[in-house]
Amino acid sequence: MKRSQINNAIDKAKCVLEKQKITLPMFGYWTIDDWNINKDRTKLIRDIMLGWDVTDFGSDNFLKTGAVLFTLRNGDVFNKNKGTPYAEKYIILDDAFEQEIPMHFHNKKTEDIINRGGGTLMVQLYNSTTTGVLDETSDVMVVTDGISKIVPAGGIIEISTGNSITLVPGIYHRFYAKKGGGMLVVGEVSTINDDYTDNVFLNKSARFCQIEEDEKPKYLLVNEY
Ligand SMILES: [Fe+2]
Repeated sequence: MKRSQINNAIDKAKCVLEKQKITLPMFGYWTIDDWNINKDRTKLIRDIMLGWDVTDFGSDNFLKTGAVLFTLRNGDVFNKNKGTPYAEKYIILDDAFEQEIPMHFHNKKTEDIINRGGGTLMVQLYNSTTTGVLDETSDVMVVTDGISKIVPAGGIIEISTGNSITLVPGIYHRFYAKKGGGMLVVGEVSTINDDYTDNVFLNKSARFCQIEEDEKPKYLLVNEY
């Protein structure tokens, strides 16, 4: 992705959050200078990777496959004394081209994916086999806000504002903003998030993207601290 595209995507995400009356913690609004001034007291934030994250998952087509994410809280899977034993994120998805987080499952993380407002959240589901292959035949058992559901392989669940789905390890999922529904704010509440060890993508994807520096960064991303 180009740096200009990342700067613009975060500017836009901040407006979308504001429209939903969601205010980020202080460091969500920091400039690069603010990060430099606060360097000594932000080691924990940088270690557990809180803050902005923009990615196209290596697709080179950010508006279709990509997201702006902001991690609010997290821990360290290798050090229980660091951070919290849980994680929380906002994920902003553009409905214009049904922007999506591509099909993946988690080895260890259980996550609630929540529609926080602005659009309609669509979640497609499959089981994985014991070897991590997508299972195209078996029904998927899920819980949505305490209600058990059985979904056929590849079935899509539509989630409206205020509602959520719980995804346990091994369930393949992709989610996107339904076209025409508006810019969507997704919430994620989960066990500790480790993007370096826990994600298994169906198709080869890069969790963090290559950046072409065509203008100065306005924000630091979590993988740039
Ligand atoms: Fe996930």
